Amino acid sequence: MSGINYSDKIPNNVNLVSDRTLQRALEHWQPHFLQWWHEMGPSDFEASDVYLRTAVSVDAQGWAQYGAVKMPDYRWGIFLADQVPDRKIGFGDQMGQPVWQQIPGEYRSTLRRLIVTQGDTEPASVEQQRLLGHTCPSLYDLRNLFQVNVEEGRHLWAMVYLLHAYFGRDGREEAEELLARHSGDADKPRILTTFNEPVTDWLSFFCFTYFTDRDGKYQLKSLAESAFDPLSRTCRFMLTEEAHHMFVGETGIGRVVKRTLEVMKELGTDDPAKIRAQGAVDLPLLQKYLNFWCSSSLDLFGSEISSNSAANFAHGLKGRPDESQYEDHVLRNASFHLRMPEGDQDVPMLNALNEIMRESYLKDCEIGLKRWNRAIERAGSSFRLTLPAPQFRRSIGAWTGLPVDPTGKLIDKNVFENQLASWIPSEADKAFVRSLMHKVIEPGKMASWVAPPERGINNLPVEYEYVKLH
Ligand SMILES: [Fe+2]
Ligand SMILES: [Fe+2]
Repeated sequence: MSGINYSDKIPNNVNLVSDRTLQRALEHWQPHFLQWWHEMGPSDFEASDVYLRTAVSVDAQGWAQYGAVKMPDYRWGIFLADQVPDRKIGFGDQMGQPVWQQIPGEYRSTLRRLIVTQGDTEPASVEQQRLLGHTCPSLYDLRNLFQVNVEEGRHLWAMVYLLHAYFGRDGREEAEELLARHSGDADKPRILTTFNEPVTDWLSFFCFTYFTDRDGKYQLKSLAESAFDPLSRTCRFMLTEEAHHMFVGETGIGRVVKRTLEVMKELGTDDPAKIRAQGAVDLPLLQKYLNFWCSSSLDLFGSEISSNSAANFAHGLKGRPDESQYEDHVLRNASFHLRMPEGDQDVPMLNALNEIMRESYLKDCEIGLKRWNRAIERAGSSFRLTLPAPQFRRSIGAWTGLPVDPTGKLIDKNVFENQLASWIPSEADKAFVRSLMHKVIEPGKMASWVAPPERGINNLPVEYEYVKLH
């Protein structure tokens, strides 16, 4: 196990002190990061004491420490999972050869692009969630929001470390650019569309952490397979933190469902208007939010057919999530059956890796839905939440802009346009959700639209004062 040196300005387990040039470069970037946090991070909560977990080691048994921290004082550091001795490349044309500790020249620009694209999403999500603190449904939720935010900040550090340590001057320039692009900015937006969508209400936040952070999980899993060992080790440790983000999403939506079912029972009706009048989210409305965020997140996997993904796999740069679960790791002779607008086709599997990732992602998304639907069924309602078909509302790939309904059926364009407001949140739906967003900050109290969590954080009670506002 590698320990972490907390006496350094930048906590790390990469022996930063032994590389003065790198250390100085990162210490030069650090104030820029803090300035970015101040300007673009959670607004107006810099003086609050937040009960946060901080990574203190990469030991699976006890990698985090909990305590009250003011967010600007959070100890953002650089932590890589322990090196696996004699690790070999696990897929692609160079399978079985030793992994790389340095970047082969021919893959330098592709790897830089992969790292920058991943790195860009981390601060983007903090920016998207910047104002949410003002409408938190409870102190427990406020703390979870801030936990996710500081860890996305640390994930930015993780990618910036790789850029500084392995990409020289280009890497340092990219690290500055990661702080210069901003979510939703007209001139300098974030790289990926989903990360420019505003997250202005907590229902969107729970959907974002359920669907979009889960895309993050799948991207990190595929990069954790990389032949570039420092990238693999970085991503493996990031996954440890990422799990909590999806927990926030899954339990958040689960608590919305629970509260709605309580209101349905109290009122003896499933009439959306009556449920809304009680300050809760009717299930058809929740379904629209799931449709929006799921379809938006599905675009993040890219086109159904992609020669870039084929090359990244063949070269050992980016594998499939959980590569070891598959039998064939080279895929030179495999084909894949793909549903395309012009009809089904068989394509070389190497070219369909984005689709393979999207399918395994959707399977993972189903797990939460099953749980929520069980609760709905137990409450005696026949309503069922579903995931939209992967062809619905796509902006990337073969189905871009095609009028496909949430069940995956290609329909008439006019019908599609008339129906769209019944499939994703309309302006009126969004206005209603916004009207529910009132700040609740009495310890243990919850907003009208969400049930309390089953337990608190780190064995503390739900009523604990997780954020001390000043
Ligand atoms: Fe992240
Ligand atoms: Fe995340």
